[in-house]
Amino acid sequence: MGTMAMAQERTLRQDNIDEVLSALTLREKASLVVGAGYKSMLAGIFRFDVPVPGAAGMTRAIPRLGIPAIVLSDGPAGVRIEPRRKGSEDSFYCTGFPIGSLLSSTWNPEIVERVGAAIGNEALEYGVDVLLAPGMNIQRNPLCGRNFEYFSEDPLLSGKIAAAYVRGVQSQGVGTSVKHFAANNQETNRFWNDSRVAEDVLREIYLRNFEIAVREAAPWTVMASYNRLNGIHTQEDKWLLTEVLRGEWGYEGLVMTDWTEKRNTAAQIQAGCDLMEPGKKSQIKDLIRKVRKGELAESDLDSCVRRVLELVVKTPTFKGYPRSLKPDLASHSPVAREAAEEGIVLLKNDRATLPMAEGSLVALFGVGSYQLLAGGTGSGHVHRPYVIGLDEGLRNEGITPYHPLADLYREHIRAHPPKKSFTSKMLGSPGSPELPVLRPTIEAAAASADLAVVTIARQAGEGGDRHLEDDFLLSDQERRLLEETCELFHAKGKKVVVVLNVGGVIETASWKLLPDAIVLGWQPGQEGGKALARILTGAVCPSGKLPVTFPVDYFDLPSSAHFPYNYVGRGSMSAGSEKENNVENVGYTDYAEGLDVGYRYFAKPGTPEVSFPFGFGLSYTTFSISEPLRSGNTISVTVTNTGPVAGKEVVMILDPVLQAFGKTHLLQPGESETLELLSFL
Ligand code: BGC
Repeated sequence: MGTMAMAQERTLRQDNIDEVLSALTLREKASLVVGAGYKSMLAGIFRFDVPVPGAAGMTRAIPRLGIPAIVLSDGPAGVRIEPRRKGSEDSFYCTGFPIGSLLSSTWNPEIVERVGAAIGNEALEYGVDVLLAPGMNIQRNPLCGRNFEYFSEDPLLSGKIAAAYVRGVQSQGVGTSVKHFAANNQETNRFWNDSRVAEDVLREIYLRNFEIAVREAAPWTVMASYNRLNGIHTQEDKWLLTEVLRGEWGYEGLVMTDWTEKRNTAAQIQAGCDLMEPGKKSQIKDLIRKVRKGELAESDLDSCVRRVLELVVKTPTFKGYPRSLKPDLASHSPVAREAAEEGIVLLKNDRATLPMAEGSLVALFGVGSYQLLAGGTGSGHVHRPYVIGLDEGLRNEGITPYHPLADLYREHIRAHPPKKSFTSKMLGSPGSPELPVLRPTIEAAAASADLAVVTIARQAGEGGDRHLEDDFLLSDQERRLLEETCELFHAKGKKVVVVLNVGGVIETASWKLLPDAIVLGWQPGQEGGKALARILTGAVCPSGKLPVTFPVDYFDLPSSAHFPYNYVGRGSMSAGSEKENNVENVGYTDYAEGLDVGYRYFAKPGTPEVSFPFGFGLSYTTFSISEPLRSGNTISVTVTNTGPVAGKEVVMILDPVLQAFGKTHLLQPGESETLELLSFL
């Protein structure tokens, strides 16, 4: 063979991975399983020259064999890249979609798949090869700081929604990374915390949703978590990554680490963790040394390298896709809005308070009414081009915000803008502090406006868990505002609506009797204000249902005894340290509640009442649902809209746990649809 032919043979193609593998030197192999470092993630701050500034990571290229570096980017609610670039007048914004908890509240894999396809398309056009999403850990406890990125307390719902998301993104020829595998249910001490979970519980709850996503949607990659699982870092856990994931579930893709390097390189390779991100040169040296000393078999390294190459050949970068840097953002906004509209949950609606009458004058209380929180903070943050606030959304639907109050809040937000820090530029920031509103101001509003909306907003994110005071619970100031608003508006025969602009569950039982209606808007993405307004005015009939239980009291939850709800240590991106290994709920967390997660516990006799149960959500119309018909593995039901307006309905079979579910299309009054419900295995 001539030199030219040899060279061609060894240039990576889809069908010559083995030849290329055998042409690689040990150093090259080691460099392929170690990412290219923090440069692309920090490019927005330090102006490094990288293909996609703000992407979380990359792999390393080997040009002599035609192996390109590929680009990995966060995250669940949209693509997270830097919106501005050195030397360019152009902007590189990405659509801010609703958070995971809202997507699962749609109970509609079809809309989630459309969201995934839109995100995948933006990734493709910006030059991203693998999207580091969806986040899909079980919402074990409401205080987990990253619950907003996750889907549900139930593994079937979580798995089905995740599978839809993966299918959507991957339909664009871009990969996903289902994360964080596994049992990563708290942020406190996240690099070291040991989740101690019995195997049957793991399999039935914490692995089950990943199994569904893997089997049904074949994500290109899986991201192993930061935490330990029963004593072993998941990134080094051969049982988890090789026996269960690959052996039992038939997974053929790549496993990468979460973003840390403090693990044993050989143990990771031996476990089947193929790619160390973000990657450090010292890891390459370490791997070479270990192979040379016989501590790591080169064949184990080869298995990981093969999977890296198998991933590389699937990517747009490898295929030479000509990224446009101009995704059609305008066509994705309606997808973000529709998803938000389907996932907003109507929790209370006494005496048909909602929809609001056309032309109403509404007193909007709460900073969140003017500064909507579109999503959470951390790697799940998205640099979106805009966020439509609730006030703006209502104005567009013909509702007038009561001016004196709007002016007061706007002035307050101007004087107290969201805090900026080194990381907030990359990872988002909490909103402005709440404004204390005096009684005479509320009185004046009650005299003039037709009704009141009180928005309660909560921000949370990666690197820290939430707290009980002023977070899960209302702050004293919020409680006073709500009480006085209800008292003074009710005295005038006017109604009060609460809008919850939250990433996770909050306490509702102590105050839910006060207002006339409650709308759970979650963090609804950049189109959130519009979506909320269309629900509030009845342009859209609410059809979201809770993917998680709202308990009466935090301590009613069995997991509350095994969660760091009062931890006062570090809450930062690098949360925790090895020093705390022996501290209960910090160094280790016993999942002593076993299968008693969420509604699985509250459905049992003799357990406390809940404030709003799993699956709950009201509508502006009514439905009749036939008895389920079972034939083989399929369950079907017929749903009829028996009410006055068009709407969608969710059907779920809880026996005693969620067995199957489905959602209708938009049914006109009198219209029926026979649904075949979705189940697993
Ligand atoms: C997060 C991941 C994320 C990664 C890259 C980590 O800190 O846990 O979810 O994908 O950073 O940004």
